[in-house]
Amino acid sequence: PLRLDIKRKLTARSDRVKSVDLHPTEPWMLASLYNGSVCVWNHETQTLVKTFEVCDLPVRAAKFVARKNWVITGADDMQIRVFNYNTLERVHIFEAHSDYIRCIAVHPTQPYILTSSDDMLIKLWDWDKKWSCSQVFEGHTHYVMQIVINPKDNNQFASASLDRTIKVWQLGSSSPNFTLDGHEKGVNCIDYYSGGDKPYLISGADDRLVKIWDYQNKTCVQTLEGHAQNVSCVSFHPELPIIITGSEDGTVRIWHSSTYRLESTLNYGMERVWCVASLRGSNNVALGYDEGSIIIKLGREEPAMSMDASGKIIWAKHSEIQQANLKAMGDAEIKDGERLPLAVKDMGSCEIYPQTIQHNPNGRFVVVCGDGEYIIYTAMALRNKSFGSAQEFAWAHDSSEYAIRESNSVVKIFKNFKEKKSFKPDFGAEGIYGGFLLGVRSVNGLAFYDWENTELIRRIEIQPKHIFWSDSGELVCIATEESFFILKYLADKVAAAQETHEGVTEDGIEDAFEVLGEIQEIVKTGLWVGDCFIYTSSVNRLNYYVGGEIVTIAHLDRTMYLLGYIPKDNRLYLGDKELNIVSYSLLVSVLEYQTAVMRRDFSMADKVLPTIPKEQRTRVAHFLEKQGFKQQALAVSTDPEHRFELALQLGELKIAYQLAVEAESEQKWKQLAELAISKCQFGLAQECLHHAQDYGGLLLLATASGNATMINKLAEGAEKDGKNNVAFMTYFLQGKLDQSLELLIKTGRLPEAAFLARTYLPNQVSRVVKLWRESLSKINQKAADSLADPTEYENLFPGLREAFVAEQYLKETNLSKLRPAREYPLITPNEERSVLEEAKGFEPSGVVALEESSLKEEPALLPERPVVGEPAPIKSQKSLEELEDDLDNLDLEDIDTSDINLDDEFLED
Ligand SMILES: *[C@@H]1O[C@H](CO)[C@@H](O)[C@H](O)[C@H]1NC(C)=O
Ligand SMILES: *[C@@H]1O[C@H](CO)[C@@H](O)[C@H](O)[C@H]1NC(C)=O
Ligand SMILES: *[C@@H]1O[C@H](CO)[C@@H](O)[C@H](O)[C@H]1NC(C)=O
Ligand SMILES: *[C@@H]1O[C@H](CO)[C@@H](O)[C@H](O)[C@H]1NC(C)=O
Ligand SMILES: *[C@@H]1O[C@H](CO)[C@@H](O)[C@H](O)[C@H]1NC(C)=O
Ligand SMILES: *[C@@H]1O[C@H](CO)[C@@H](O)[C@H](O)[C@H]1NC(C)=O
Ligand SMILES: *[C@@H]1O[C@H](CO)[C@@H](O)[C@H](O)[C@H]1NC(C)=O
Repeated sequence: PLRLDIKRKLTARSDRVKSVDLHPTEPWMLASLYNGSVCVWNHETQTLVKTFEVCDLPVRAAKFVARKNWVITGADDMQIRVFNYNTLERVHIFEAHSDYIRCIAVHPTQPYILTSSDDMLIKLWDWDKKWSCSQVFEGHTHYVMQIVINPKDNNQFASASLDRTIKVWQLGSSSPNFTLDGHEKGVNCIDYYSGGDKPYLISGADDRLVKIWDYQNKTCVQTLEGHAQNVSCVSFHPELPIIITGSEDGTVRIWHSSTYRLESTLNYGMERVWCVASLRGSNNVALGYDEGSIIIKLGREEPAMSMDASGKIIWAKHSEIQQANLKAMGDAEIKDGERLPLAVKDMGSCEIYPQTIQHNPNGRFVVVCGDGEYIIYTAMALRNKSFGSAQEFAWAHDSSEYAIRESNSVVKIFKNFKEKKSFKPDFGAEGIYGGFLLGVRSVNGLAFYDWENTELIRRIEIQPKHIFWSDSGELVCIATEESFFILKYLADKVAAAQETHEGVTEDGIEDAFEVLGEIQEIVKTGLWVGDCFIYTSSVNRLNYYVGGEIVTIAHLDRTMYLLGYIPKDNRLYLGDKELNIVSYSLLVSVLEYQTAVMRRDFSMADKVLPTIPKEQRTRVAHFLEKQGFKQQALAVSTDPEHRFELALQLGELKIAYQLAVEAESEQKWKQLAELAISKCQFGLAQECLHHAQDYGGLLLLATASGNATMINKLAEGAEKDGKNNVAFMTYFLQGKLDQSLELLIKTGRLPEAAFLARTYLPNQVSRVVKLWRESLSKINQKAADSLADPTEYENLFPGLREAFVAEQYLKETNLSKLRPAREYPLITPNEERSVLEEAKGFEPSGVVALEESSLKEEPALLPERPVVGEPAPIKSQKSLEELEDDLDNLDLEDIDTSDINLDDEFLED
């Protein structure tokens, strides 16, 4: 059987279609309709791209003439019309016949068309001679339904007529060369076989028969029966070994062109079939029906091609076998994905139509399979070595062995071309797979057998599409319709079980395989290099799998089939269905390294590493990281970002620090600061936070660690950088009330400054209120006037004088100073103190200057351990509480995020 895949690519509903044609280069189908229109459909975009309103009568013939950008139509108004399909302009029109025009044939090289008509004539027209009629062919006695030019001899053409005959003509001779009789009713259609080997014509008639004729000895060699109504169209496919016939019974039938077996019957429910068109170089076939037109795609997608380990590629171009050698390209520079300029050598034609070609493991032989047959050739000279019939063929890992699937129940194993064993697998044989073990697929799943004695190794419940064994036989990929599995084959366990018979069930040896992974991707073609499984996927990716990780080598723009990998070239070779060969670079050193890592063979890995180019190191490092070898990844990676990440993960502070210095990135300093803090490296953390300009973080660190030097340093930096909130906090925490106040004044926070003064620095109140008043008066004079200076209205501010005394008292007794933490137990907490009480009877040493601010810098006496909160306020208990509330609103964690505008948030609170 041909096992043709048939896919519908386009369905275009329309009025009755009387003829179809395919454009040789554009994705266009031309359809002429019974209602007088002619349409061009794009079968890739599935859209109607052009329409020609030809006339009101049926247009029974329309053809592309690509070399002139023309569409030529013939209609029942007896006119031939010529349109330019780019401009849609009609370039010519002439009356060609005296009755309906049935068919147009375009000469492949000369400026000629042939037309046939119900007037029983065929005419030859020369467009280079102003469309003059160069010849009239007379002989038929009824309508001439179709004419075709012989593709092997462009001077000859054949015609089909309702007079029940087929006539063969020569250009230059107005009477027929000969006539083929045999149909019992009118002949509607005709086609030539284009293959080199047979002088055949095919015809279809109203007697519902299809006939194949040898036009050299003028006999009918075969009659195809099956259609239930008039046969309206026939086609010998120009490439595939098939005959396509269409009938008024609504079906299209596909027959094998050498065995004449009916391969398929297609019924798309579009009523009567009227026309068919196939095209050389394409698997598309256009069909015209009563209700529209359809394009189907025929044939095997996967090309029959195979490459040996040295780079010799053998493929089948239809039934011709050809060879190309990568080595013959010399040193031409090769780019990824570019078509290779290969010289192709013809090796002769094959007796069967090849569907697959496959080298044996050592490359000495190739097997060609097709039409239920196989032929084994020598790879060099293509001499046949063995042949036979088989549904399928599979090479063993050992080059001298192979298996064939004879039927759905019998599998035969051959060694040195001699049958060694024939056996019937328990559940039948629907497919076989070669490699280290012989795989046999049945409805029940997959069974692996030993090649040697056909003993069952293991049955697995899976429906495989492909099986790929690694060279070592340790790994196998089983690909299904949905995903693929990577399994490890445990040969020693199998050997042990075979010895002891332990762990052997009816499903074989339980421990034979270990599943390493399942990947939700559909493998189209695959191969192993070491422990790396390289494959093309259903979404046209070229990937490889190693150790649970998928690496994408390339995104392919079309479906490609893997041919092989040549380590010497560091290249992977693929072919497409047009037999173009492309390649992608893939370093063998990288694959070897990854294989060594998978095998935990680090001495091997270290040996390979120097051969991996620098630019590939990071990729390898990512692989190491994913395999859990971060330390090694850090050593191998050359990407600073990756190295920094790894250093962080590994807690390698020194390396991370070095990288942060080089990168000068705030982000990196922040990340490193976090790590440093988690490692209690506060000195480093501090440095990082400074580099990162993370004042929130610094404040947190400084206060939490009670480092006075740090707070001091932070205060200066923060004020300089305008981080006023942090600056205020640090001054205030250090008891630097004057600096706190000046900061508020400097930043225009006069009301806050006034209250700060009122609470802590009474002798500054007057000065601040003055400033506040001045500033407020610019906005609202009345409001400014209502601000009272406490020194002028002592009656409104009872205890003011005592407050001055208290302030002086605190200053002189150092009691407002911060103390080392070790003294805390000896110090009365602020909330238990009453400064006014304490200051009673205190005699200030100097004169209390009410108006003058005393902005003396005071050396902070900061503890080495935690700082003890804010200075004691000189105010009533109530005000103190209020202030504390304010301070409570300052949540240090909020400050820690440097993104928020600290100034506004805090000060407006
Ligand atoms: C003929 O049929 C086609 C499609 O069915 C339609 O687009 C077109 O307009 C029709 N032409 C005429 C002349 O009726
Ligand atoms: C057919 O035509 C060819 C070429 O003109 C000629 O050689 C041959 O004798 C003709 N055969 C018949 C049967 O007329
Ligand atoms: C004509 O040729 C075909 C092969 O193409 C052969 O099968 C057939 O027997 C021949 N017929 C005659 C009458 O020679
Ligand atoms: C088949 O062709 C005959 C003419 O030979 C015609 O009368 C008949 O209607 C056609 N069959 C169908 C189903 O159209
Ligand atoms: C094999 O080769 C022999 C001799 O060249 C030839 O007679 C035979 O037809 C060939 N068979 C196949 C199946 O290729
Ligand atoms: C406090 O911070 C300073 C730098 O601001 C640093 O030099 C010092 O080592 C820190 N002290 C402690 C105890 O961490
Ligand atoms: C205040 O502190 C200074 C220096 O720290 C010290 O000389 C002075 O004696 C202290 N005064 C009192 C009253 O403790």
